[in-house]
Amino acid sequence: KEHIAEVEQFTADTKEKVEEFRIKYLGRKGLIKDFFTEFKNVPADQKKDFGQVVNTLQNLVKNKIEEAKSSLETSTEQSGLYGDLTRPGNPIEIGARHPISIVKNQIIDIFSRIGFNVSEGPEIEDDWHNFTALNLPEYHPARDMQDTFFVQTNPDILLRTHTSSVQVRYMENNKPPIRTISPGRVYRNEAISARSHCFFHQVEGLYIDKDVSFADLKQTLQYFTTEMFGKSKIRLRPSYFPFTEPSAEVDVYWGLETETDYKMTKGTGWLEIMGCGMVDPQVLENCGIDSKEYSGFAFGMGIDRIALLLHQIPDIRLLSENDIRFLEQFKSAL
Ligand code: PHE
Repeated sequence: KEHIAEVEQFTADTKEKVEEFRIKYLGRKGLIKDFFTEFKNVPADQKKDFGQVVNTLQNLVKNKIEEAKSSLETSTEQSGLYGDLTRPGNPIEIGARHPISIVKNQIIDIFSRIGFNVSEGPEIEDDWHNFTALNLPEYHPARDMQDTFFVQTNPDILLRTHTSSVQVRYMENNKPPIRTISPGRVYRNEAISARSHCFFHQVEGLYIDKDVSFADLKQTLQYFTTEMFGKSKIRLRPSYFPFTEPSAEVDVYWGLETETDYKMTKGTGWLEIMGCGMVDPQVLENCGIDSKEYSGFAFGMGIDRIALLLHQIPDIRLLSENDIRFLEQFKSAL
């Protein structure tokens, strides 16, 4: 009977203690076994009583073991195996978009609102798509305008120097009306400095339809610069590109508020942001478009320079160094 009292008080906080308890009572050399062995020595008139007590003890022990096991399981769920379920979760690290992507997406967004789609092409190009189709035949001096990285010569395979190559591919494969912008990485064999790199990013645009005029080009650029910079004053300076005629350089007026503004605009307030012009009829013909029926305009701008400007980044090399301390700063940008 004193064992019954002991068993009733039993609790265990580990599996080992439950097992110890089981062996003590139910094991091959356990107490219950002893009591049954003892049974034959008990006087006949007490046999019934003794038997009942031992049975009660055995059942109690079995119940206690079950109880202890299941309470141990519940507490592992709450604090052991799965930890404390009420503790705060692990923070989720959210990355930042790269400033080039932020600006590229802004440009795509602005042009998509006026019906331009996005086209892409290979970074490793042949001579035709990067040069010849664009009125830059072999030995044309204007090829020197863009120092080229060659992958192979004769036939020439190269790293594209502009995404005008994508426009050639697009014209070859699509019928007018065409409204497309071509974002992508381009390569030029230039000395690397704070202001220029041997690779950078462009968005070039192409619009081909019947009766497209220079006024359409100018209005499109005015729309773009207003949306992009919130500044509406632009000027077009006559320029030269082999694939457009007439050609122009687009400057946007940028107030001289910071030292970076001053440097970017060389102190004049006017900042050159892109080249543009009416697509040369010969280029249309090269790409299988009838230049008597169709005309169009094209423009091209560098994403990197715009990113430097908008985010006050002092050195273009920061854009390709992948320094986490730099990139982290763009978490809230978009
Ligand atoms: N392809 C020219 C460049 O990379 C930019 C440009 C595009 C100029 C379209 C005029 C028209 O410099």
